[in-house]
Amino acid sequence: MKVSTIVIVGAGQAGALAAAELRQQGYAGRVVLIGEEAHAPYERPPLSKDVLLQPQTARCAIHGEGFYAEQNIELKLGMAATALDAQARTIALADGETLAFDALLLATGARVRRLPMLDALGENVHTLRTLDDAQRLLPVLQAGKRVLLVGAGVIGLELASSAVDLGAQVTVVEQASRAMARCAPPLLTDHLCNVHRARGVALHLGAPLAAAARENGEIVLTLENGTRLAGDAVIYGIGVEPETTLAQAAGLHVDNGIVIDAQCRTSHAHIYAAGDAASERIEASGHHRRRETWENANRQAQTAARTMLGLAPEAREADWFWTDQCGLNIQFAGDMAAPEWIARGTLDAPPCVLFGLDDDGALVGAITVNQGRDMRSAKALIGKRARIARETLADPAQNLRNLAREFA
Ligand code: NAI
Repeated sequence: MKVSTIVIVGAGQAGALAAAELRQQGYAGRVVLIGEEAHAPYERPPLSKDVLLQPQTARCAIHGEGFYAEQNIELKLGMAATALDAQARTIALADGETLAFDALLLATGARVRRLPMLDALGENVHTLRTLDDAQRLLPVLQAGKRVLLVGAGVIGLELASSAVDLGAQVTVVEQASRAMARCAPPLLTDHLCNVHRARGVALHLGAPLAAAARENGEIVLTLENGTRLAGDAVIYGIGVEPETTLAQAAGLHVDNGIVIDAQCRTSHAHIYAAGDAASERIEASGHHRRRETWENANRQAQTAARTMLGLAPEAREADWFWTDQCGLNIQFAGDMAAPEWIARGTLDAPPCVLFGLDDDGALVGAITVNQGRDMRSAKALIGKRARIARETLADPAQNLRNLAREFA
């Protein structure tokens, strides 16, 4: 281990996990973890769910109190990194300090994509990315409040679910013809939309916004088709953009994210990147891909830490993420653009598993609905690109764990 000071910019999932992994792997040098927010590193998945539904009891800290001190990780919170000098290997902080590093991890995450038409309304317009954002939503998501949600991605739908649970009247407006189109196939999202509608959500798909105004104390959204929707507050989730300001100014290769290889190395020898901010080169195609998931942040954090210490990355599994909404736990693994899907069980009566096949009939994706215990086996089978008869996949009597063993 040649390095003696490792600086991590960004104290989110990737940053906090990378710091922990360095210590886990026995790195004894200095670790500085710099976070812009005032809170100690926390998990984001509960922000749209438990933090809203059980604000008194929800817990989202990534590591327990005392962890950073025990692990001798210097945590600098409420502190922005303001400039990176890649050649000199220094990073400047908002308080005027300049830190020299032997290795730097950029785990700067992503920022909410802004919608100026809504921001211009001022009050009662919200987005959700941070713990502070979630806390600001508490008075908005209350019984009887009319909530307008713009964007039917994962944020929009999870918030729709929580808002209904809290007794709000919910309207969702999505410009695309389909909800959650970025990350799930039509079979699943069409079903999910029906579930939301059955819970009382007014869902407008293929409905771009034409105008937004404040009229007599309420917010009125006008859709391109002329529909007018009134509400007490609007919350929008129309995607995120990678935070690449430092990397870009320092001359690193940036292309919809800080470009990294499979070992999380950027275009600069001593600088690494991980998480939502990073765009990983896919060796087979030469393209880059940014993944906005909790699992990816953890995996890349671990990989980056290991690479810094000269260790090989752990074996890789299929991409994975999950959502909890409307009482359903839905987990997704592998390729969500698979051209064919085979159902085991029916979505109307979960548990249900959907298997995605590619054009050659190989298993490339899986979705479990209230059947998370099948996910590990499904991931293993996806890793093998297993070819399994469609009747076998569709048959609930065929134990997935046994099938995974056959292909091991
Ligand atoms: P998203 O990319 O999942 O969805 C954005 C949605 O907004 C899309 O459906 C898009 O068509 C729509 N949209 C874009 N522009 C629009 C406009 N002008 N008007 C109306 N609709 C518009 O992003 P989202 O939901 O904002 O989530 C942000 C981030 O948080 C993502 O990285 C996501 O992965 C993450 N997240 C993950 C969760 C999970 O994994 N369970 C839960 C919540 C958030």
